[in-house]
Amino acid sequence: MSHPKKRILLIIGGGIAAYKCLDLIRRARERGFAVRALMTKAAGEFVTPLSVGALTGDRVFQDLFSLDDEREIGHIRLSREADLIVVAPATADLMAKMAGGHADDLATAVLLATDKPVLIAPAMNPYMWRHPATRRNADLLRGDGVAFIGPNVGEMAERNEAGPGRMAEPLEILTAIEARLARPTSALPLSGRHVLVTSGPTHEPIDPVRYIANRSSGKQGHAIAAAAAALGARVTLVSGPTTQPDPKGVDVIRVEAARDMLAAVEASLPADCAIFAAAVADWRVATESDEKIKKDGKKAAPKLELIENPDILKTIAHEGPGRRPTLVIGFAAETETVVAFAQRKRKSKGCDWIVANDVSPETGIMGGDRNTIHLVTADGVEDWPEMDKVAVAEALIARAADHLLSITANA
Ligand SMILES: Cc1cc2nc3c(=O)[nH]c(=O)nc-3n(C[C@H](O)[C@H](O)[C@H](O)COP(=O)(O)O)c2cc1C
Repeated sequence: MSHPKKRILLIIGGGIAAYKCLDLIRRARERGFAVRALMTKAAGEFVTPLSVGALTGDRVFQDLFSLDDEREIGHIRLSREADLIVVAPATADLMAKMAGGHADDLATAVLLATDKPVLIAPAMNPYMWRHPATRRNADLLRGDGVAFIGPNVGEMAERNEAGPGRMAEPLEILTAIEARLARPTSALPLSGRHVLVTSGPTHEPIDPVRYIANRSSGKQGHAIAAAAAALGARVTLVSGPTTQPDPKGVDVIRVEAARDMLAAVEASLPADCAIFAAAVADWRVATESDEKIKKDGKKAAPKLELIENPDILKTIAHEGPGRRPTLVIGFAAETETVVAFAQRKRKSKGCDWIVANDVSPETGIMGGDRNTIHLVTADGVEDWPEMDKVAVAEALIARAADHLLSITANA
């Protein structure tokens, strides 16, 4: 693929992975991109401006207060004369400054002054990546529309360190660059689509103060809603009780019990895609007591008779034409024979895809930040690598967007 007119401003941060930028520049230029590079002060400790400039074939910019640079090009022009800004490696420090809106060096001033899309390739030690401060900063940056590639999971440069934090490889970054540039900002892949998502647990009342619940945190469902909104969809999120903040730009309907969730979902149709990530209770108490059940004077504990809740996934998957979403995706949270069960569930519920995950306590998935899923479709089973729930959400929504586009293209 050749991109004669596309200009990338590459901001190199001060991390070990900076050396990979030399390869990234070479490969980007081979594909016809014009690359201009800007290095942070710390980046100069890892790669030299001489090597970077030799590969870009251009001046390398480093100093906000350089009289020559500011007179000839200036930080505002640098930020505008690019089609895409790529930050690689995006260090923890650079991410924090971006999230905080700092502008005390050339890199951060350019990033704050830009009106262009920004793609970052984080690279850092796994402890830095998992730190709550970095998690917060990553969420803020995603909310600001910054696109991420990686980090990957693997060995670190430091001995005996492994986990999430390896910078994506240059070819992966190039693929993300091409995907980002191929997408006009005015026409996001889910523009004009309605995506309906359920999230969180349900609370099934026993009496006015007690309920039956489960351990679902809502992290995965809320991340899916946020990812769909980021790709331009109108998103309705029907959420059971969770402590997750409302994703930006999403219509949130809060419910408690499974029956309320079904009613809210039905009232939100039609939708192009419906994703049922909520952990809906299978059973509820047959007769909910209007008064708090008291123990005084009673010898035996009350017996709770359970009856089945409505099956939201199956109900919506069997809606008639005009009501059934084009793509219906269910979740299967299991503790054994996860994939075989999910394959059966896809057929019995009549949905299109099942996202299956193992929620045995030792996986830490229920309530945790990471997820390992198997995507079960009519074509087979894909085993995805372990990723954080935001990355799972983004990948799933990208797949759903492709699927909807291919259906429209073939219609
Ligand atoms: C040997 C060495 C390697 C480092 N590698 C990384 C790294 O991979 N990721 C990171 O976020 N910080 C790393 N740091 C810390 C950053 O260099 C430091 O936070 C610096 O202020 C980042 O500046 P910048 O983000 O403005 O480029 C490293 C530091 C040293 C001394």
